Amino acid sequence: MSSLSRLLKESWALVEEQQEKLASYFYARIFLSSPQARELFPVQMDVQRARLLGAIVTAVQSVDDPERFDEYLRSLGRDHRKFHVTADQYDVVGAALMEALRTFAGDEWSPEYDQAWRDAYAVISRKMIAGAEDDADNPPYWHAEVLFHERRSQDIAVITARPLQQVDFRAGQYFSVECKYQPRLWRVYSAANAPRKDRSIDFHVRALGAGWVSSALVRRVRPGDMIRLAAPMGSMLLDRRSSRDIVCIAGGTGLAPIKALIEELTRYNRTRWVHVFFGARDRDDLYDLAALNRLAGSYPWLSVVPACSEDVDYAGEQGNINEVVARYGPWQDHDFFVSGSPGMVRATLRTLAEMQVPAMRIKYDAFGDM
Ligand SMILES: Cc1cc2nc3c(=O)[nH]c(=O)nc-3n(C[C@H](O)[C@H](O)[C@H](O)COP(=O)(O)OP(=O)(O)OC[C@H]3O[C@@H](n4cnc5c(N)ncnc54)[C@H](O)[C@@H]3O)c2cc1C
Ligand code: HEM
Repeated sequence: MSSLSRLLKESWALVEEQQEKLASYFYARIFLSSPQARELFPVQMDVQRARLLGAIVTAVQSVDDPERFDEYLRSLGRDHRKFHVTADQYDVVGAALMEALRTFAGDEWSPEYDQAWRDAYAVISRKMIAGAEDDADNPPYWHAEVLFHERRSQDIAVITARPLQQVDFRAGQYFSVECKYQPRLWRVYSAANAPRKDRSIDFHVRALGAGWVSSALVRRVRPGDMIRLAAPMGSMLLDRRSSRDIVCIAGGTGLAPIKALIEELTRYNRTRWVHVFFGARDRDDLYDLAALNRLAGSYPWLSVVPACSEDVDYAGEQGNINEVVARYGPWQDHDFFVSGSPGMVRATLRTLAEMQVPAMRIKYDAFGDM
């Protein structure tokens, strides 16, 4: 660990337990010095769900190796264009962060800690601002019309939306999405298809019980509604130079980016075997199995293994999807793509490590903090 990173972690430990109060103070400072910034944030500022402070702390603490995060920070800056963030607001937010840290750390705060946070914040915000500036030729977000909205189970909908203008993205990437029922709340959803000529993009959304955006997308959005999509992000992409066979492991709507990768493969693959493991709690949640089976019927290189973890009468594989994958194999020579809830991704990465799969062959997206 570098000394900068040690200072950042050590000093954050001083305030960590007062995080909630620190967050309220931080947002209050921002809105006091820049009342117009209030307009950028969600209408209901629920500090526990507000994302900015936590995100900055995570980013600052990973500053050890800013070059490794260069691409991520640039795309985050580009993504912030959707909030209409201006370059000078980075100073406002940085100042609020420093004041909040000093206030809550009290006597134990030191000049070294102060310097470490200011340096780290400066590096990150510079990269984000550069990312936003380089994207100036694109709009900050795209308007898209919902063409189809199909409920596939109690909690899951497949939504097809068509951006009014061309949006460039790659199979495996995700978009920030906002809808009129939850203004200014953006959440990311993976495109479930490779880019199409008609520009349309499918999303597979599961409504989480108390989840604000996912519930609106599943239960309220209708064909004809406009939604907004911000710059695509993510690096769970196919490497066309690899000749290894592929294993895709999806949990629930984690199938979305996997389906996009399969669709891309249908356009050029002839030589790589592709094994898809699709896990859900019960058969209702295997919401896209029919489409997967159709693809497997058309492409001899594709095989699909569905599994249920809580449906004892299900005739196929039983168990968590990582356990099911472990029953097949061996997998040491494959490229892996894993996508689903944080718990599912964690369990799968553990299983793959136990099966001696090299970490560098595994790409994954977790639908939340790991
Ligand atoms: C890279 C990436 C790609 C993603 N792609 C997809 C996708 O293709 N499809 C998809 O459906 N989602 C996807 N997600 C998840 C999505 O971004 C949202 O996090 C999710 O829809 C919840 O948003 P929300 O506004 O409804 O919930 P919020 O209001 O933000 O609340 C979510 C939080 O509330 C809690 N919570 C509330 N209710 C429940 C519940 N019933 N079960 C568990 N936790 C609960 C959890 O702590 C959770 O963190 C993706 C996430 C990431 C990071
Ligand atoms: C180092 C600087 C910053 C970092 C690392 C950072 C990072 C993040 C991340 C990762 C998110 C969550 C992503 C998402 O929900 O799409 C977020 C949300 C947000 N950021 Fe930033 N950000 C920074 C600076 C700023 C600045 C200067 C502003 C402008 C005032 C800003 C405004 C917002 C807003 C409005 C949200 C959504 C908040 C919410 O939904 O609760 N950010 N930020």
